[in-house]
Amino acid sequence: MTKEAFNERWNTNSMKWDMLEERYNNPDLWPMWVADMDFQAPQPVLEAMREVLDHGIFGYHVRPKSLYKAVQGWLSRRFSWEVNTDQMVFTPGVVPSISHLIQTFTEEGDGVIIQTPVYYPFFPLVRNHNRHLIQNPLVETESGYEINFTELESQMKEGARMIVLCSPHNPVGRVWTKAELEEVARLAEVYNVFVVSDEIHADLIFQGEHVPFVHAAKGYQVETATCLAPSKTFNIASLQLSYVVFENSSLQRRFENQLKTNFVGIDNPLASAACEAAYNEGEQWLEDLIAYLKGNIAYLKAQVAENMPEIKVFEPEGTYLVWMDFRGLGLYGEDLQTWLREEAGLALNDGHMFGEAGNGFARMNIACPRSHIEKGVQLLQHAYEQKAVK
Ligand SMILES: Cc1ncc(COP(=O)(O)O)c(C=O)c1O
Repeated sequence: MTKEAFNERWNTNSMKWDMLEERYNNPDLWPMWVADMDFQAPQPVLEAMREVLDHGIFGYHVRPKSLYKAVQGWLSRRFSWEVNTDQMVFTPGVVPSISHLIQTFTEEGDGVIIQTPVYYPFFPLVRNHNRHLIQNPLVETESGYEINFTELESQMKEGARMIVLCSPHNPVGRVWTKAELEEVARLAEVYNVFVVSDEIHADLIFQGEHVPFVHAAKGYQVETATCLAPSKTFNIASLQLSYVVFENSSLQRRFENQLKTNFVGIDNPLASAACEAAYNEGEQWLEDLIAYLKGNIAYLKAQVAENMPEIKVFEPEGTYLVWMDFRGLGLYGEDLQTWLREEAGLALNDGHMFGEAGNGFARMNIACPRSHIEKGVQLLQHAYEQKAVK
């Protein structure tokens, strides 16, 4: 089978499909890395964007009131989270949002906690601003990962100023429980730590339910900001639309001033039309997507358990990213990456990138047609069997 026969993303300037040569020195790897999906956005999103295109004028644009309403409706329906439209600040991405939040609410040298292994841009986000990076590694247990609250408390006690939560957590796939988030909120109140909650994966839940951090923090005096976006949910990341929700208007003003200082904030009419349509008309599409992704996860898990028992799959409670442990094969660091590339022909995200605790791990993206997973599994199994023979 040629590449073209089974995929339409090659030669579309897709990061996942067209950067293999640049990133892995091999354009023929099977790409299951970058966190986007190999699916078209919902039809209402495409239609709303077409309408904007047909108008054909892309001059400076004011963010429509209807967009704020669409976000408000989504948060209410999906999470029973009632927000006023004036609590949202639109931004061109969650990573840029966190960058601005760090600039606004911390000073040079301040400690910022992240919970490793974690989405790798969190490291430079803290370090690029000359803040002190504090790692609060998650504890690996038989059933999944947990927060090390004892260490977290001592790090907060020692004066950390901010924690960047990843909720749900990329790459370990945890959907934090209300009790876990409440404990973070309690500690944040005691030690006066600002909580940035990155909830970009909140819509992609397979087990349990997503609890917005602000719900768990009710009753606690915590400075907090929540970062959200339709980008992962509806596969529109390149449109660069996200938003930050504040509970405290004076903190919100400070953040807005920071954005103004950096001249961030012009609306993109294609992005706002897409977001509005996704939130107003994309709910059934999302339900169908979740059911499909659950099937992908079940397939992967069953295949690995049956045919590759030395590899451990951490079944994600949320996010379409699967954290896989290859230590049972005695593979770590560069050796694991070389094996995945050269023996399996797979492009996965190197576990190392998510922090030292990711050594011996890799992250597989399962947001693709089942046939893509089947091919990924075949490639992995072939390499696995070859290794056993050697
Ligand atoms: C936890 C987390 N935050 C942020 C992002 C990226 O957000 P954006 O593209 O809006 O900057 C990702 C993408 O994978 C992510 O997993």
